[in-house]
Amino acid sequence: MDVRATTDAPAATGADTIAIGVFEGEGVAHDLPDGQLGALLESGEARTGFRKLALTHADGRRWIVAGLGKRDDFDPERARIAAAGVLGRARTLGTRSLCWELPHKLSDAHASAFVDGTVMGGYEFTLFKSGADEDDDSGELDELIVSAHHDVSEAVAHGLVVGQSVNLARDLQNRPANDLTPTALAERAAEIAERHDTLTLEVMGRAEIEAAGMGAFAGVARGSDEEPKLITLRYEGPEATGPVLGFVGKAVTFDSGGISIKPGNKMSDMKFDMSGGAAVLGATAAIARLGLPVRLISVIGATENLPSGRSMKPGDILRARNGTTIEVINTDAEGRLVLADCLTHAVEQGAERLVDLATLTGAIVTALGTTYAGLMGQDDDWCEEVSAAGRRAGEILWRLPLHPEFADMIKGKYADIANAVENRRAGSVTAAEFLHHFVGDVPWAHLDIAGTAWDTGKAYAPKGGVGYGVRLLVQLALAPS
Ligand code: BES
Ligand code: MN
Ligand code: ZN
Repeated sequence: MDVRATTDAPAATGADTIAIGVFEGEGVAHDLPDGQLGALLESGEARTGFRKLALTHADGRRWIVAGLGKRDDFDPERARIAAAGVLGRARTLGTRSLCWELPHKLSDAHASAFVDGTVMGGYEFTLFKSGADEDDDSGELDELIVSAHHDVSEAVAHGLVVGQSVNLARDLQNRPANDLTPTALAERAAEIAERHDTLTLEVMGRAEIEAAGMGAFAGVARGSDEEPKLITLRYEGPEATGPVLGFVGKAVTFDSGGISIKPGNKMSDMKFDMSGGAAVLGATAAIARLGLPVRLISVIGATENLPSGRSMKPGDILRARNGTTIEVINTDAEGRLVLADCLTHAVEQGAERLVDLATLTGAIVTALGTTYAGLMGQDDDWCEEVSAAGRRAGEILWRLPLHPEFADMIKGKYADIANAVENRRAGSVTAAEFLHHFVGDVPWAHLDIAGTAWDTGKAYAPKGGVGYGVRLLVQLALAPS
């Protein structure tokens, strides 16, 4: 799909379908000469309520009147949802070229969001679908144009990169575990690194992970015949300033629970347990394409968690790279073991601000559903910055507390710490206290994305992987401390 901005009027662009947004209590900004769009509103056929859509034909093309609701409520996230809704309608009409008229007095962030919302809304995962479905309304647009009074080309280009990078992450999420192995994930990282002189890649396999003393990561990987991969991408932006950012992603490409095996119901969803790693890779690709002036170390811990004759067992004691000994109470609490060594590695590699993303606990889904990701961290200023990036991105976070009593709950009986609390109390925050042991004083924000990573029913992500976190991490790189 071609995406571009123009200061031409929509009808002058040659688009076969034009989308006009209307706010409550406002009219159509630029009506057709015969006033057809205003008449459509007056007749009640078109409505200004958010997500309402109406269609008419005039001037040799289609016009979609899109209700945008109250102007004051219209944040960029609503622009994404409106854009995805319009795209859905346009596709049923066989639209090839769509032009959005940007409503007056909206920001560049809105212009970007109309574009990334359209790009995300058009996403489909068809890799394993045989044959083309004749009745299917899908099919990508050839062209998306944003018409505005002023030049929004930069915002539009930004939205395109972000939307495509979110879709890159979703492709990784949706690929099943027999296809997206840790090795395949590392190959995808290599393809991305190839494309940018500003990116360098280092990949450690099982032997190197073990030799580096990363006993926690290695412990999880032991049960699988698939080679684990510790993927490190380094990005050095042009005229980079500010602290070195460290993005760390959990990429358990399949989490069966291991010896503490999960129940079978919905276990197939555990192919999504690599969503943190997918977000980190998607965001790193976006940041490199945008050439943002930051320095970044991205660390992705990729492995399967399986039961076998070689698996780690409840009661086993592992030694992490930083020397901490860990008693394995539950082999299904594997994400924190992988992250432990990845966080140590990111700090050793020079990260000065840490964000980790992980589908870490079922408890966060109980607490926050699919609406907020959980945010935990030891540095209030950094947590606030990460939270603000989330608000700008439309990926919102809710902070949960750390507390010495939570840290006490994961004290080990036979080792320094335990990987789980047997009574299941305070699941998300005890997991965060576990990670806390591996970050030292480096400002750190832990994002538990178990509820927000897939099947959240967003208009621009109706099913499967959401690519959650890509937009947030890009926003963070746009305005680091
Ligand atoms: N990947 C899971 C968390 C998860 C569960 C994500 C459901 C999304 C949906 C994680 O590895 C896990 O199994 N966590 C356990 C920890 C427990 C054993 C302490 C959990 O949350 O039940
Ligand atoms: Mn698990
Ligand atoms: Zn897991």
